[in-house]
Parts: sequence; structure tokens; C-alpha cells
Amino acid sequence: MLKESLLKLSESQAAKTVITRTPVSRSFAQRFVAGDTLEDAIQAARALNDAGLGVSLDFLGESVKSRDEATAATDMVIRILETIKRTGVNANVSVKPTQFGLDLDEAFCRQNIELVLQRARELGDGGGEIFVRLDMESSVYTERTVALVESLWADGFHNTGTVLQSYLHRTPDDLERMLALGSRIRLVKGAYKEPGDISYEDKADTDRMYVQEMERLLEAGTYPAIATHDEAIIDQARRFVWEKGIGKDSFEFQMLYGVRRDLQTRLREEGYNVRVYVPFGDSWYPYLMRRLAERPANMFFMAGSILKESGATRFFNPAAIGAGLAAGAAATLLWKGRKRKSKKGRRR
Ligand code: FDA
Repeated sequence: MLKESLLKLSESQAAKTVITRTPVSRSFAQRFVAGDTLEDAIQAARALNDAGLGVSLDFLGESVKSRDEATAATDMVIRILETIKRTGVNANVSVKPTQFGLDLDEAFCRQNIELVLQRARELGDGGGEIFVRLDMESSVYTERTVALVESLWADGFHNTGTVLQSYLHRTPDDLERMLALGSRIRLVKGAYKEPGDISYEDKADTDRMYVQEMERLLEAGTYPAIATHDEAIIDQARRFVWEKGIGKDSFEFQMLYGVRRDLQTRLREEGYNVRVYVPFGDSWYPYLMRRLAERPANMFFMAGSILKESGATRFFNPAAIGAGLAAGAAATLLWKGRKRKSKKGRRR
């Protein structure tokens, strides 16, 4: 329930205004976001590269409301590509279709993506085009994103691929579509609030599907990305590739910046390819809320930061405050849900 309320908040403009103005949210966001500028992101990428980890740079932003914003995002992503080339960092790029105007005009969005892919192609050395991944957003965009990748491939843009989410019922079919194409797939569990008739409500089902889809990808995919911090699933991937004789360089593990750094380096030390998703920019609000929703215990850290900043840790225990915040949010939702139900009841 807390997860749901955080995902709802991630889409609320009012909550965004309040939360982004709080200095502590900004300082907490720094745990998951490399900084406001491209220079901050390149610095983070260099440090990760020094530890043997690859990077995917993500200029934060989604659901833009105007063509100007979409054009600015396109220009910025091209700047990222040029900076990758100039600095020689081991990085590729992740983008969100709604950042390029998918909500405004599909043809315009596609044009922007083509500009990016074209530049990524020109900057690559020989066969090594810079890879640009289309992140997967909520299910409203799934079909359009999958179809976009198919049509870009049909037009010869093979330096792109997308992300599939194991919580969606449709994913096994999308997986086959992407395998037929030969495009690279990143497999994730899914980070949005989705209706129960198209997604698994029980986390155990999402995890079970993740393992099935991961094994299919490891056997038949083109350099798939196993993007999870779930140690049980990662162990299963290691067992599976070992049993099937699948080489360590035919896939990569991916994790988020600031999450399970210990596991990132451990896997690298064991000889696996590991790529870290590094977001940067000042539009960090929805990204941060999704990270909180994935692990409500992060609320305790946030509560801890609030107390530390206010100097109140001498008097209060952050875990207790975090639990209080979580319980408060859950109680508010419960109360709102009951109110809605009783109103409905009255209407009937
Ligand atoms: P799960 O949620 O079961 O977590 C397993 C363990 O990982 C937890 O017990 C905890 O220890 C740790 N953990 C997970 N999330 C954490 C957090 N936020 N903070 C601290 N610890 C955490 N989603 C999407 O819908 N579209 C996309 O394009 C992408 N792209 C993407 C790229 C990459 C590289 C990654 C790793 C993830 C995504 N995601 C995504 C997010 C994904 O859908 C999912 O929400 C998160 O990865 C969390 O799920 P896990 O697989 O880690 O498992």
C-alpha cells in the first residue's frame, strides 16, 4: 500500500512542488542521482569505469509537455553522445520516449530519436556504434515503444533496443518479438503502478516470470541485460549460464546508481560484465519516488537525513520516525480508501 501511494505521488504535480523544495529531498536524491550536470555524470562514470563497471547515462526527464522541451532533450542527449566520444568513458545512453515527445506527436518523437541514433552511429568507431536504449515507461507506452523499436530496426537503426518488464502479462510475447528482431533487451521487474488485469499483483509471480524470461533471453538473446538487484535471481542467472555453458561476455548484469554497490563490484570481480545506470539532471523527482517505492525502507534513510539535518538525532531514532512516516502514509491511504468506498456505497 505504501508502495502504491509513493507511485501515485510520483505522478502528482502538487507533491512534486512540495517535495522538490525540501532541501533534504534534494540531498537524499544524491544517493541515486549523479548530479545536476553532464560533468557530474561523467565524473561518476569515470569512477565506476575505474572499478571496472560500464555505465548507461540517463539525462533525467519524462512526459515533456512541449515540443521545445523535447527538442532540448534531444540536443542534450546528442551532447551526451559527443561527450562520451570526446572523454572516452565506457558508457552508452538510456532515454525515455516521452522525453522526446511521445505524448505530443509520435512522428515528431521518432524524428528526435532518429537524430540521436544517427549521431550515435556517426560517433561510433567502426562497428562500435554507441548504443541507445529506449527505457520502458508505464504500460500506456509499451506497445508504442516495442513497435517503435521494430520500425527503427526496419529502417536500419540497429544501435537501439528496449526494456521489458516481467510484471506485465504481455511480456513473453514482446520478448519473442524482440528476439525475432535480434535487438538487445534489458529485462527488469517493472517500476510503475499498473492495473491488475494486465500485470501480476503478486511479487512472487513477477519474480517467477522474471526467471523464465531471463533464461529464455540468456539462451536466445543478443547480449541481454539482466537488470536486477535481486540476489536470488542473480544466483539463478549464474547457475544457469554455468550449466548451459553460456559465456560471461555474452550478457551483462545491470544495476542502478547508488543501489547495491557491494554486489556490483563483487560480480565484476567474479568476471561478469556489470553496467550501472547513472541518472543525472535536475528533473529527479519521479525517478526518486520510484526508487522509494521499490524499497520503502529507503524512507527510513530519508527520515534519518531529515533528523540529521535538523540535529535531532540526539532525541529521536530515525528508524522509528521512518516507521512513523510509513505508517502515517498507509493509514492516510486506508482512511481515504474507506471514505471512497463508503461514498460509493451511499451512491449505490
Ligand atoms: P526487488 O525489487 O525484488 O529488489 C531486490 C533487492 O534489491 C531489494 O531487497 C533491495 O535489497 C534491493 N533494491 C531494489 N531496489 C532498491 C532501491 N530502490 N533502493 C535500495 N535497494 C533496492 N523499470 C522500468 O519499469 N523501466 C525501465 O526502463 C527500467 N530500467 C532499469 C534499469 C536498470 C539498470 C535497473 C537495475 C532497473 C530498471 N528499472 C526499470 C527498475 C526495475 O523495474 C525495478 O523497479 C528495480 O530494479 C527494483 O527491482 P529489483 O529487480 O532490484 O528487485
